Amino acid sequence: MSFSAQILCWFDKNKRSLPWRNDKDPYQIWLSEIILQQTKVIQGLPYYNKFIHAFPTIKHLANASEDEVLKLWQGLGYYSRARNLHYTAKEIVKKYNSVFPKDYKTILKLKGIGPYTAAAITSFAYNLPYAVVDGNVIRLLSRYFGVQTSFDSSKGKKEFQLLAEELLIKEEAGKNNQAIMEFGALQCVPKSPNCSICPLQNECFAFNNNLVFQLPKRAKKLKIKKRFFDFLIITQNDKLFIQKRKKGIWKGLYQFPLIEHEEVKSERIIKTSDTWRNMFEGATTTITKISPQIKHQLTHQTIYARFWHIDANILLPKNTDCIRKEELIQYPIPKLLEKYLKNIGII
Ligand code: ADE
Repeated sequence: MSFSAQILCWFDKNKRSLPWRNDKDPYQIWLSEIILQQTKVIQGLPYYNKFIHAFPTIKHLANASEDEVLKLWQGLGYYSRARNLHYTAKEIVKKYNSVFPKDYKTILKLKGIGPYTAAAITSFAYNLPYAVVDGNVIRLLSRYFGVQTSFDSSKGKKEFQLLAEELLIKEEAGKNNQAIMEFGALQCVPKSPNCSICPLQNECFAFNNNLVFQLPKRAKKLKIKKRFFDFLIITQNDKLFIQKRKKGIWKGLYQFPLIEHEEVKSERIIKTSDTWRNMFEGATTTITKISPQIKHQLTHQTIYARFWHIDANILLPKNTDCIRKEELIQYPIPKLLEKYLKNIGII
């Protein structure tokens, strides 16, 4: 049996029943794939269900506010994916009369949709012969065929794409693509795969050469930047001050006024910074608490955060909203803030 035939056979016996696999709706497939670029199926499912419940069709998603979309996405990270999802839903409504395009090239032009997502949508929904290459596929192909080229090099990207295209059974493109991803997600997993029950064990290059843990290979080391955030939770009676972030990883989310540094700073330095002086000039302030430093790990950055609890009678600073404390729960906020506020019982 060929590699792909064996994968299809395994898929028939082992596939999970997932809601977006039911009726080949391109909107559901698109939404699920964007969510699954952020997280595993188990963690992604509740998000998918919340989205489909709130926005059963592209039209519903297009008509939502950005705050609503970001609120449902809260906790998944990489918020530009949610903003692009929303933007593209509006574009499909306007430009394509709310009907998801059927053609690969048209789909590829949509914001937030790259070759992987375009191949997933066209093959799962319309059975078009485009091969998907995601982390699951790369891991499986690299191990089984012994591809040692780094997957994040341009040579490696081409090599994995070509190999996936060669292997694709075109008449069953949708099922074949789902099968290979599912195999990577369930059987050929990154850490401690159970090779003893793997149907591909005999012909697997990595298994036979004791390279399962060396493959796939990555060329570039992840660069992780350190950032030091001092959030100011300023309260005035039952009021609270929040700001909408204008750029970066949390663009569109809400946060407390922030003093940022590239290295750790003492509390004295924070209190004498320009931001602090501008914020509290002429006001009476009482610092009721300063949280310990909290470490928050993102893919490309480590954030070290402190939260200052301050009672102050300030005027509304620029680009700031004054809300009632109990309204905070309605706003999309970064997971770091949500975790802290939950921990101390504010939300
Ligand atoms: N991970 C991302 N997309 C997937 C899919 N369609 N099936 C299984 N795992 C996935």
